[in-house]
Amino acid sequence: MNTHASPEIIRTDNVTKKFGEMVAVDHVNYSLCENEIAGIIGSNGAGKTTFFNLITGYYTPEEGTVIYEGKDITALPAQKRVALGMMRTFQLTSTFDSLTVTDNLVLSFIRAHKKHSLFNLFVTPRSRHRNNDKIKECLETFDLQQVAQRDVKHLSLGEKRRLEIAMSILAEPKVLLLDEPLAGLSETEIKGVLDVLRLNVSKQTILIVEHKISKVEDFLERLTVMHEGKIIADGKCEECLNAPEVRKSYWQID
Ligand SMILES: Nc1ncnc2c1ncn2[C@@H]1O[C@H](COP(=O)(O)OP(=O)(O)OP(=O)(O)O)[C@@H](O)[C@H]1O
Ligand SMILES: [Mg+2]
Repeated sequence: MNTHASPEIIRTDNVTKKFGEMVAVDHVNYSLCENEIAGIIGSNGAGKTTFFNLITGYYTPEEGTVIYEGKDITALPAQKRVALGMMRTFQLTSTFDSLTVTDNLVLSFIRAHKKHSLFNLFVTPRSRHRNNDKIKECLETFDLQQVAQRDVKHLSLGEKRRLEIAMSILAEPKVLLLDEPLAGLSETEIKGVLDVLRLNVSKQTILIVEHKISKVEDFLERLTVMHEGKIIADGKCEECLNAPEVRKSYWQID
């Protein structure tokens, strides 16, 4: 359903993914508009991550198509989708744990802006970029100044998540896709991560997959609920959460 005024950026038509006999994603039609802040929720095994993997190119659907900016990308590998501006956190933007927070940001910046090979990335003097305004701004925005010189392996989970999102945002992707970015975080850390994501509202398309709606309800403009591989509701959060099918399947209220 396209309820957003801006153009569509991602669309899936009838995408289906099976694991043996099990249909994990079942003929899903979904559309995401530019600068939309959307979420997908659903109970365990609903198919959220599998659907996410179909969008980002980790899986190829057995049926259906994935469209990005009007082009059919169904067969395009994940890495090529990144080059088109689709950025997925926590997998492609994994951190270098033995380097400092600043140096991780620097590497992300160089990778995104200089289009260097991985080899060049390591031989480029990082010191040259440490005072770069973008890096400094990023440390501030993501509340990472206090840990700027700390090796990533000594960060708390919340700090590491903020760094991972900061690294993705430095690459200036068109679409930021997050699969359970709040998992394992405390209430304060969740607030911290959502606060930094809020800074990008209306500048970037954001799709968050989350298990629990309570964490992201206030943040999302639009919600999609999945159950047993299918979309059972799509629209404003409140409407979706009160839909009879959602009450039955997600809340398990008769
Ligand atoms: N690689 C795989 N091989 C076999 N079955 C899989 C695989 N990945 C997912 N499944 C199955 O597909 C279904 C959907 O799984 P998926 O991980 O997409 O659900 P989910 O909504 O992300 O769940 P969760 O909230 O637990 O993360 C589940 O029944 C799961 O067991
Ligand atoms: Mg999942």
